Amino acid sequence: MTSSEIRQKYLDFFAARGHAVISSASLIPENDPTVLFTTAGMHPLIPYLLGEAHPAGSRLVDSQKCFRADDIDEVGDKRHNTFFEMLGNWSFGDYFKTEQLTWWYQFLFEELGLDPQRVYQSVYAGSEDGKIEKDEESIKVLKELFAKYGITAEEGPTTFGKGEDGPGQEIDFSRMRIFPYRDKNWWMRGETIGEPGGPDSETFYDTGKPHDPKFGPHCHLNCDCGRFLEIGNSVFMQYKKTAAGWEELKNKNVDFGGGLERIAMVLQEKDSIFKGDLFSRIIAKIEELSGKKYEEDTRSFEVIADHIKAATFIVGDNKGVAPSNTDQGYIVRRLLRRAIRFGRQLGITQEAWVDKIAQVVVDDYALAYPELVKNKEFIFTEFKKEEEKFLRTLEKGLAEFKKIAVNGIDGVAAFNLYQSYGFPFEITEELAKENGITIDRAGFEAELKKHQALSRTAAAGKFKGGLADAGEATTKLHTAAHLLLAALRQVLGDHVFQRGSNITAERLRLDFSHPEKMTAEQLKKVEDLVNQAIAENYEVICEELSLEEAKKRGAMGVFESKYGEKVKVYSACHLKADQQPDIEGAFSQEICGGPHVKNTGTLGHFKIQKEEASSAGVRRIKAILE
Ligand code: ALA
Repeated sequence: MTSSEIRQKYLDFFAARGHAVISSASLIPENDPTVLFTTAGMHPLIPYLLGEAHPAGSRLVDSQKCFRADDIDEVGDKRHNTFFEMLGNWSFGDYFKTEQLTWWYQFLFEELGLDPQRVYQSVYAGSEDGKIEKDEESIKVLKELFAKYGITAEEGPTTFGKGEDGPGQEIDFSRMRIFPYRDKNWWMRGETIGEPGGPDSETFYDTGKPHDPKFGPHCHLNCDCGRFLEIGNSVFMQYKKTAAGWEELKNKNVDFGGGLERIAMVLQEKDSIFKGDLFSRIIAKIEELSGKKYEEDTRSFEVIADHIKAATFIVGDNKGVAPSNTDQGYIVRRLLRRAIRFGRQLGITQEAWVDKIAQVVVDDYALAYPELVKNKEFIFTEFKKEEEKFLRTLEKGLAEFKKIAVNGIDGVAAFNLYQSYGFPFEITEELAKENGITIDRAGFEAELKKHQALSRTAAAGKFKGGLADAGEATTKLHTAAHLLLAALRQVLGDHVFQRGSNITAERLRLDFSHPEKMTAEQLKKVEDLVNQAIAENYEVICEELSLEEAKKRGAMGVFESKYGEKVKVYSACHLKADQQPDIEGAFSQEICGGPHVKNTGTLGHFKIQKEEASSAGVRRIKAILE
């Protein structure tokens, strides 16, 4: 079964059980300053897990593009990717544990035909302070489910604490299938106030690989030896982090995430993700370019294949970003340059090869992710530019590295490699590790700061007020961005469309189509219009409409829907005498996921800080609320 078939079967299976199929959201989160990328299917759906109504209903299913920068160094072990697709199904206060576990197993065993004998499951062991109970309910459901598939499943020993070492005893996997863990089975993105979280239950597949005692005396589900591979996770999202601890949400939700590449790998009976059909053509292309076989250097092949695929998806996203020294652009730069270095190691000598692999990625995913086809010229051009830039300095940089790498690399030397030879710090760090020498990260960062180029990437944890405060500030700026776009269209004309936006807790950035630099007078007019709209105390009304209705209304916004879902339209307008919104007289109308403030009067004073070129025919405004 191909990965495309698995993806489709999954969507169909849950659609047949009342789930609305939704499109993958962008890889680049819209209004969340806390992360650079969408790292899980639940990410774009957080407001709904916290209780807001989703326009498509209380049951959703999708396949979400995800990117985890944290896993860059894990790539090379045959089972980790930075970019992957997460199959997801959601219940927002609808069904719960029994349906979720039953359907998931039914999908695995009856639709895909996976062998239940090779499946194991973990469950939540309960919190240390006793406030949150052990998940006996899931254990009961799982035992019944295994029995239905002809398997007597006993509960195995519990692992307390973090879980890497397991329960500390030999396990009889022929009898035991269900294993309670503590920290490993509590899912949350982070512990910021306002985040949802809950106990989860992970599904593991026994690859049959013998246990490697290097990873501990006894094998267990979460052992790093690679025998058990996690293929899916049912999160029972029923709590929210507050200052006082985890509090129960009004709705009991399900957030399921399944790794498509891993499910394909086990179903296609491969011992590496990179042998599955979502990678085989990419690997073949690298074999062709390098004249080597995957087996000769699996790690280099995996790094190249993973990184170029991930960069293709990030640059080819509808909110795509080019390589740069900040934020998402810096990650793209790291991915591409690291791939190029590994390519050189593998003996790829020709120039301009990175875009050739990107071409394979675009072809492989053309149907599932048409944005790649739409944006392919941008991808190829940016890749070529980046490769040229890096190749100009790579050899000299490596020579310089050899020269200085004697007694360890200090901050100034690492910064010099970064500044003069284009080596992302992580590449120098990796080279240092390969050569067994130390490197001073703090010193590098101090140098970088000195040169005022510190990217946000290095500054996670910058929002001390937590998600709640940061959230409020970004929500206001998000509404201000709508007013700004409407004002720009009034002042400059109807050729103005949004080309991108990026909002942090401190400022908004809006890219829009306009052929020339704005005059001081135009900027003043726009600023005044936005401030007038704020003073008007417009209500911000949210309606759920079909895409066609929204378009007919003239609402702004790009929304590419493959499945005809409903969209949210936010309008800033007054109420009529009958308290109904005066949509026709709206100042602004945009298709958008939200969230927004309720009334523009809460925004404060709007100020444009900068207007500059973004790319050909596209201008960029940075603005703040004071
Ligand atoms: N949110 C869960 C995960 O990412 C499903 O594993």
